[in-house]
Amino acid sequence: MQVAIDGPASAGKSTVAKKLAQDLNYMYLDTGAMYRGVTLEFLKDDVDLTNDELISQKLKNINLTFETIESEQHLLINGEDKSQEIRSIAVTNSVSDVASIKQVRSFLVAEQRRIAGKHDVVMDGRDIGTTVLPNAEVKVFLLASVHERAQRRLLDYQQSGETISLNQIEEDIKNRDYKDQHRAISPLVKAKDAIELDTTSLAIDEVVEELKKIIEKVK
Ligand code: C5P
Repeated sequence: MQVAIDGPASAGKSTVAKKLAQDLNYMYLDTGAMYRGVTLEFLKDDVDLTNDELISQKLKNINLTFETIESEQHLLINGEDKSQEIRSIAVTNSVSDVASIKQVRSFLVAEQRRIAGKHDVVMDGRDIGTTVLPNAEVKVFLLASVHERAQRRLLDYQQSGETISLNQIEEDIKNRDYKDQHRAISPLVKAKDAIELDTTSLAIDEVVEELKKIIEKVK
């Protein structure tokens, strides 16, 4: 069983996908974390995003793995836990530019398909139903209002000690959505066979229950 969950920034995809995978004992793969990991490495090395050769070279030296620590999935880059750093505002504001690079997408899509292998999997991102797992049995497109999404993100930032206003987060979210929707390769778009679910006024558990019902129907 392959479950593809796509949607715009901060629509609750990873929270819901993680919980769903835990309940069903499926593998969970947060593909956004992988784009964030590459972005963190590129920012660290101040990589020129127009230099194809340098980008290929850098990608060869990035090994992304996941490890579950206290039931939380951690991203390791070349063996080092970078789960916290990849959520910084700096990474968040650069990730869409990095994610629009062809080589980066080819590299990560191949990794995602390899990691998912033949497991039952819940994968969340922007192009899972359209590109990574086009034959997924279940495809869901999660939506929520920009205001609701910004409020959810504000709580995350407050918990990690970053200072930013709600207005600024709303602007950043709109910006990121625009770039993700308008890039040339695998833009954020609802797959034709995806079920749309607006989570604005739904609690996490309610969304998870909805998804379980959808999965039951196709089993
Ligand atoms: O899901 P998250 O907000 O962590 O994703 C960060 C960014 O990574 C997105 O804004 C998008 O630019 C990129 N991304 C992508 N394709 C995916 C997952 C994420 O382009 N499958």
